[in-house]
Amino acid sequence: MIKVAVLGYGTVGSGVVQVITENQEIVAKRSGQEIQVKYVLDLRDFPGDPIQEKVVHDFNVILEDSEIDIVVETMGGTKPAYDFVKASLEAGKSVCTSNKELVAAHGAELIQIAKDKGVNFFFEASVGGGIPVIRPLNDCLTADKILQINGILNGTTNYILTKMSREGSDFDAVLKEAQDLGYAEKDPTADVEGYDACRKIAILTSLAYGKQVDYEDIYTEGITKITAEDFAYANKLQASIKIFGSSKMVDGKLYAMVAPQMILADNPLFAVNDVFNAICVTGNMLGDVMFYGKGAGKEATASAVVSDVVVATQQMGNNVQILWDADKMEVASMDDMENRFFVRLAGQDKAAVEAAFGPVDYVEAGIEGELGFLTGKMKEKDFNAKVSAMDGFITRIRLGF
Ligand code: HSE
Repeated sequence: MIKVAVLGYGTVGSGVVQVITENQEIVAKRSGQEIQVKYVLDLRDFPGDPIQEKVVHDFNVILEDSEIDIVVETMGGTKPAYDFVKASLEAGKSVCTSNKELVAAHGAELIQIAKDKGVNFFFEASVGGGIPVIRPLNDCLTADKILQINGILNGTTNYILTKMSREGSDFDAVLKEAQDLGYAEKDPTADVEGYDACRKIAILTSLAYGKQVDYEDIYTEGITKITAEDFAYANKLQASIKIFGSSKMVDGKLYAMVAPQMILADNPLFAVNDVFNAICVTGNMLGDVMFYGKGAGKEATASAVVSDVVVATQQMGNNVQILWDADKMEVASMDDMENRFFVRLAGQDKAAVEAAFGPVDYVEAGIEGELGFLTGKMKEKDFNAKVSAMDGFITRIRLGF
């Protein structure tokens, strides 16, 4: 029997206990032995909850108990999660976590400690909730050079943008509705400003190239400036606006960003709506492969955590290789990234538009007093220089087509 301690009895932690309990038989069969939750660490007590007898408030009880082979970390944030996870690995316990902040900031170091100690540090649920993407990247896409990763990595923002697209509503109104329904956090900053997706694309990119990609180096733009008018243009183009975490290798340089993009119906990510996530990975031999599913939510995320517990049990005494060195991988400047842009400009001066951008494709969405157009492909720095020299610039959205 494998005994597990769960750190944090919030949404995901309680989901982990639920999955281990409800799917006990199948989990035991696949693990090769029974999995039992021995402790739940939380600041709170849970009177009346079946785990009430298992609640401990002192992490050292878990650390010092040699019966605990696997620690599940579902606290979120880096403090005190980092100290608890590091101490667990150093004590020879495997760790399975859903914590993207922890993995993005300390993944390389924790993977190395696990390797040195002959245990495992797994983090399937840190990206894409219940979607299996970490293990496929690490264990399956091993024959390919990864050329590109493009993901809808945040359920909250995908829900908001889907609603805005369908209903023609404004960002603020949809955000409020999402908060009332419990989809968006009371403080939605990490989601709507793209910080959550930034950590997730940093994790995926670090795994794809085997080196540390610092999330602080990734250009990040959220969705707070996207308007109902932008969607009127997108609808006219039969396009959608979605926020992507993207990274790609071009001429040996790594480009990465989180930003809203307009995409057409032929993009495999076009139909990914509501709170769903999807990640499209392009390999040089395989071509495109796509992973789709619930990117958040109690049971889905817990399912991914427990799948890690199953592998950790199967691999007890054996470190599963994860290539992610502490060596830093440089992210190229956005200045040289090439994109096409959708632009809105106040006024009707087509001559000025064409003098700056050459031939463009105008989009007529029936919005008075402005021009909407699509540019050709150009470097970000050239685009920025052109728009800063023009009067009446309203907004721009990069094209994913
Ligand atoms: N806030 C995140 C989201 C939760 O909306 O996708 C899952 O990481």
